[in-house]
Amino acid sequence: MAVRMLFSVDFWRMAVLWTLSLLQSYYMLMMNEFFLFSRQSIAELPCDWRSGRRFEGPGRPICIITGATSGIGEAAARSLAKMGYCVVLAGRSPELLSKIVGEIEEQVKDADVKTFVLDLSCIRSIMKFKSALEQWLTDSASHFSVQILINNAGILATTHRLTPDGFDQMMKTNYLGAFCLTHLLLPLLKNSPVASRVVNVTSFTHRCVSSVQANDGDLAKTMDWISSSEGYPFARTYEISKFYLLLFTREIHRRLQSSQLADKISVVAADPGFVETKIMRELPQTLSWLAFKCLRSLRLLQNAESGVSAVLDAALAPLEASGQYFFGGQGRRIKPSAISYDQKLASELWTSSWRLLCQANSDLKFGECLFS
Ligand SMILES: NC(=O)c1ccc[n+]([C@@H]2O[C@H](COP(=O)([O-])OP(=O)(O)OC[C@H]3O[C@@H](n4cnc5c(N)ncnc54)[C@H](OP(=O)(O)O)[C@@H]3O)[C@@H](O)[C@H]2O)c1
Repeated sequence: MAVRMLFSVDFWRMAVLWTLSLLQSYYMLMMNEFFLFSRQSIAELPCDWRSGRRFEGPGRPICIITGATSGIGEAAARSLAKMGYCVVLAGRSPELLSKIVGEIEEQVKDADVKTFVLDLSCIRSIMKFKSALEQWLTDSASHFSVQILINNAGILATTHRLTPDGFDQMMKTNYLGAFCLTHLLLPLLKNSPVASRVVNVTSFTHRCVSSVQANDGDLAKTMDWISSSEGYPFARTYEISKFYLLLFTREIHRRLQSSQLADKISVVAADPGFVETKIMRELPQTLSWLAFKCLRSLRLLQNAESGVSAVLDAALAPLEASGQYFFGGQGRRIKPSAISYDQKLASELWTSSWRLLCQANSDLKFGECLFS
């Protein structure tokens, strides 16, 4: 299998294009530093910016992290629990969730951690999660709101698999699931006593997308890749899923800015860089080992503890950071790809995504979206 993969287009796409995209992001970071743009932008943040948006009681501010059972999500959960948030871990496996809770409670004194089962590849599961969360908020002493939502869950699937709703699993988990969850949680985010934040964990690989359509037909096709004789284009599917998540970030930011919610909810994108996690679990072990080895020798590989810093920056930065792309830690931001600023594409994607979701589940109503 490793040999077959070694000769595949996808492997070389990852080895060459993804490395170049990552280098481009670091180059932009370096240029920002060189011209002092980035330092200025850090200086713009208040000195206590990492704790600036916390509210005081009743209960602790609630932060939801999807995909919190591994890698970056797990590291974010530990850090936010240390900072005094009530951390809601949302994941597929109850066993893994309770294992992580046990570890966090052992490491963090007074940790306030709650778990919920959530499978982002299934609309029913997302709706069930929302109801269970609301019920728990009603029953507990917590404020009926969510302050931070981190859409972190993601997969790099090497084979085409269909979800119960009939979507490509990688597209559904990485993009459409996060789109659906964010919409369902908007009322709780709006209820937060201090401005709430949505963080979409995207990737430098979005830079590999140079042209893509987002109208109904094209999106439906992308959401259900028909395996061609050449096989499933998994590297490209991953890139597009992360690009869509970024377009969604820009579109929701634009809609929030032109609504009365601009000072209530903000949304940002976070790119952790290349991090040694289980993200490559579906690749042959020898190839992921080789990839990590090469990236480590180029000093481009981070561990989860350092990779999570862009996500934490994104989660805790002030309201004014809305719409921005966090990369490199220390509150630093860079520009995403030029095509991700395409407003028409972002708006088309928004509408098509809603239509697809409503077609897949009749309980979802397009008109009920907060800013449809
Ligand atoms: N690692 C990197 O270099 C890198 C770079 C850029 C961006 N990212 C992004 O960072 C995010 C976190 O990835 P990671 O590197 O920490 O990978 P990871 O260690 O594989 O963690 C992924 C998490 O997502 C969860 N997940 C997968 N499918 C799910 C579903 N259908 N519903 C709910 N949760 C699901 C996994 O849960 P299970 O344990 O149940 O599978 C796991 O907790 C992803 O969005 C990834 O695309 C990673």
